[in-house]
Amino acid sequence: MNQRTYNSEFNRSIADPEAFWMEQAQQIKWYQKPQKSISIDENGFYRWFKGGKLNTCYLALDVHIENGRGNDIALIYDSPVTQSVQKFTFSELREKVARFAGGLKKLGIEKGDTVVIYMPMIPQAVIAMLACARLGAIHSVVFGGFAPHELALRIDDAKPKAIITATSGIEIDRIIPYKPMVDEAIRLSSHKPDHVIVHNRKLGAIRPDADYDVDCSTLMKLSDPVGCTEVDATDPLYILYTSGTTGKPKGIIRDNGGHAVALNYSMKHVYGMNPREVFWAASDVGWVVGHSYIVYAPLIYGCTTVIFEGKPIRTPDASTFWRVISDYDVKVMFTAPTAIRAIKKEDPDGMLMKRFDLSGLRYQFLAGERCDAATLNWLQDHLKIPVIDHWWQTESGWPMVSNMMGYPDHFEVKPGSATKPVCGYNLQILREDGSRAKPNKEGFVTIKLPMPPGTLPNLWGDTERYRMGYLHTFDGYYFSGDGGYVDEEGYVFITGRVDDIINVAGHRLSTAEMEEVVSSHYAVAECCVVGIADELKGQIPLAIAVLKAGQDMEQFRLQSEVVNDVRREIGPVAGLKNVIIAQRLPKTRSGKILRKTIRAIADGQEYKVPSTIDDPIILDEITQLFMDEKIGVFQAKEE
Ligand code: COA
Ligand code: AMP
Repeated sequence: MNQRTYNSEFNRSIADPEAFWMEQAQQIKWYQKPQKSISIDENGFYRWFKGGKLNTCYLALDVHIENGRGNDIALIYDSPVTQSVQKFTFSELREKVARFAGGLKKLGIEKGDTVVIYMPMIPQAVIAMLACARLGAIHSVVFGGFAPHELALRIDDAKPKAIITATSGIEIDRIIPYKPMVDEAIRLSSHKPDHVIVHNRKLGAIRPDADYDVDCSTLMKLSDPVGCTEVDATDPLYILYTSGTTGKPKGIIRDNGGHAVALNYSMKHVYGMNPREVFWAASDVGWVVGHSYIVYAPLIYGCTTVIFEGKPIRTPDASTFWRVISDYDVKVMFTAPTAIRAIKKEDPDGMLMKRFDLSGLRYQFLAGERCDAATLNWLQDHLKIPVIDHWWQTESGWPMVSNMMGYPDHFEVKPGSATKPVCGYNLQILREDGSRAKPNKEGFVTIKLPMPPGTLPNLWGDTERYRMGYLHTFDGYYFSGDGGYVDEEGYVFITGRVDDIINVAGHRLSTAEMEEVVSSHYAVAECCVVGIADELKGQIPLAIAVLKAGQDMEQFRLQSEVVNDVRREIGPVAGLKNVIIAQRLPKTRSGKILRKTIRAIADGQEYKVPSTIDDPIILDEITQLFMDEKIGVFQAKEE
């Protein structure tokens, strides 16, 4: 029984973060232990465990083998789309990772070099990430739902020496040719990598050869396994690009030391896991959840992890999650509320769940987007275990607000709240003037510095954007970009982004990026893209376009062209399906588009007519347009 309570540990973590985290740092194996926990870098930013030496791949694999667990299962690959299952022990996984790292080394990849990984949900993606970590190379995984243009942006920013990919992925029953997309991205990018390492899945996808191609299995055969390269705690482990408020994605840096310490701590104290148990995050390695809770955290903590190549529904049906939980005796599962909404829609009475033995499942965690009470209650009623909504971001890398299940004093769930701040996060709701908001009053969700280990120390190649985007708004605080409030009992309620980032089916997307694509259409004079409420996906993008004078394009044609443009430029994951034509857009007198008001109209929420509005009549026009086009709340009313 853990004698330490959340309350006492939280207070300790805020009062003396250095001592608190130094204690947690003792739980992982260092080549050289850090002498102090916090230091300040050349930019004036907080850093954790400088001077400590370690290797993240060593912690994920070798340590467990040294502890006699080489024959335990480290990774389970479950792929309903190929109807296959593969299991890897720690020893088997290490052999593959060490050999692949040897191959990368042969190709000239060294500590500090960058490598882009663009892969479907197959074990080779995990092997590629761990192989980079083994060498001290910095990986940057790009989600497969992004189009070549997006991949090219990331190639130009990360400047990889190599790209690792596969011939194809599978989306339910469609083969997605990955390799041609990589070729197209390289054609579009200014930076050209030396090598493209291709894992041939032999699924019949076309695979045109290029000079830079290296066949993965040949490389493996010709290479010898290599050991782990010692890195500094503050050396980057990976860069993960995420959507910002401009068209250019930002490269979140994750360091090695703070990351390992924080993830190891979170497995026990947030998720209530024990080593040797099975943990399953049904996400994608292209997102932060995949990095932290498919790959690094479960392995570092000595759990078995699952890489699942499928969807919550249609692979083959809405029972697939329950089958996986029961097949592998998953103890704790993590997914996005959207996935549960999709399952609930197909199986409203939870009949499919009853077919499986889910008695081993302790907790179900949800994150990635706001969780509506109906979804949380439905899941809780059917699973009859705690369903835990928790809040975090790519930037934090691990949960910031959660019921911490590893402590004995966890809390009653209040639907709509992710519960209380996680140890180490001094969360404050601030008002616009920087003063603290009173309980139940909405404001900006911030974290008083220093943020705990594992959180972003900077942006790749853009220190100024880091400073301005996160640290400048409120002096001494990290600004999350979310709004929310804390109630009188200290429960945190996240109400949504206060910027133009939207969350579509748990995928974080920038409306600014979509606007760039829509406004580059030859017939469009100006446009705006807003995220409107959607029953299944939480939010979906809606584009409103004003045509250039003299253009009288039919709406359906504009829609089909713009939807194609967005799929081609950003990728199918953007999920833009609705484009409507308006005569004009509501703006302030200084010309700023009133996106928040447009969103409120579509969602049927009450709104105040902004005092700065140029012409209030336009709001009536937009309301009428939404009614005519059955957009948002008007669609629901019609049905
Ligand atoms: N590679 C290529 N294409 C991809 C892709 C990938 N890795 N992931 C998604 N796409 C494509 C899909 O095929 C789809 O294309 P389409 O418009 O041609 O059909 C499009 O991107 C949108 O995908 P998605 O958002 O997944 O919607 P969907 O309708 O296919 O599925 C859900 C709906 C709810 C089942 C699905 O969104 C889901 O599982 N959501 C949970 C998300 C999640 O786990 N997020 C992680 C955050 S923790
Ligand atoms: P990402 O960086 O892709 O993980 O997205 C992070 C954003 O998703 C946050 O800034 C929130 O806006 C949203 N988000 C994630 N988890 C939650 C949650 N539990 N409740 C509300 N919003 C969430």
